[in-house]
Amino acid sequence: MLKVGLVGVGGISAAHIPAWEAMEDAELVALCDIRSEKLSQYAGKHLYTDFDEMLEKEDFDILDICLPTFLHVEHAMKAMQRGIHVVCEKPISLHEEDVEKVYACARENGVKFMVAQVLRFMPEYDLLKQIADSGRYGRLLSGFMARLGGIPKWSWDNWMADEERSGLVPFDLHIHDLDFLVYTFGSPKKLTTHRSKRPEQDYLHMVYEYDDFFVSAEASWYASPYPFTAAYRFQFEHAIVALEKGKCVIYEDNDRVIDMSKEPEALEGIRLVGSDGYANELQYFAECVKEDKPVDKVKPEELSCVLKYLLQI
Ligand SMILES: NC(=O)c1ccc[n+]([C@@H]2O[C@H](COP(=O)([O-])OP(=O)(O)OC[C@H]3O[C@@H](n4cnc5c(N)ncnc54)[C@H](O)[C@@H]3O)[C@@H](O)[C@H]2O)c1
Repeated sequence: MLKVGLVGVGGISAAHIPAWEAMEDAELVALCDIRSEKLSQYAGKHLYTDFDEMLEKEDFDILDICLPTFLHVEHAMKAMQRGIHVVCEKPISLHEEDVEKVYACARENGVKFMVAQVLRFMPEYDLLKQIADSGRYGRLLSGFMARLGGIPKWSWDNWMADEERSGLVPFDLHIHDLDFLVYTFGSPKKLTTHRSKRPEQDYLHMVYEYDDFFVSAEASWYASPYPFTAAYRFQFEHAIVALEKGKCVIYEDNDRVIDMSKEPEALEGIRLVGSDGYANELQYFAECVKEDKPVDKVKPEELSCVLKYLLQI
């Protein structure tokens, strides 16, 4: 049974904690947050308000980092130096040089490290990757990705609104879509950006150019409570593959329309992964640790490429 500790019991931990609790061969034993009120609902676990004390007193195999972005590297390295495997929320850092620093630390201490880039583990996006990899609809001609919403107002100490600590929309939100592009299609050749950035709202429009196709992307933290929207539309030679209004639909050029939510097995050779991307990513990492397999689904060179482009926005 793998023992797991988690630090940062804020917004995203609400997706990680149930995933660990539901996992068969892992046990979430300890939680840490500087705000003791965040811990009160977890009586029965070992609870800490001081990370160093948790590391000193506990003996777990995996640390799950759900801390604000600017704290990721420091906490990951402290744990890895004690021989603990680390899975960390995105982004790894706002600084490209940290990628090598963190992976070198993992190598030196003989532990595994993964940044939890959740889109890679979500069925809607995994479907798109499987379709692109299979070539079943011919060449890709163009793509569109969107990740929109209102400015977050819930974060601890309002760290998300602070560019030095969160990197704002590029590093906090758009990173998901760019990471998926790099994972699926490799490094873009060129980026053109437009941005409307004010203290109370931020909107970005990007065009990533590849050799023979381009992908445009939008991301926002609007000042008004615009509903959270994640969408894509990819135009292949023989089909459009779209995620719109929460549904994956394939529009084939023979006029067949496949709603993947109703016909999940419609495409031969394509299998949808489980619906909870957070559970999938943590399960994947736990399996890599348990079976001592390389964590090759998220590669350091991909993370570096993503940070390099985000720094240009
Ligand atoms: N993958 C996703 O879909 C997704 C979604 C949201 C956030 N995130 C990422 O998750 C991370 C956390 O974001 P969030 O929305 O949960 O933020 P949050 O502010 O809601 O939670 C962060 C928590 O960390 C605690 N904390 C701060 N400093 C600490 C310290 N030194 N020791 C212990 N606890 C400390 C805070 O009290 C807070 O409870 C960020 O890196 C963010 O980019 C990922």
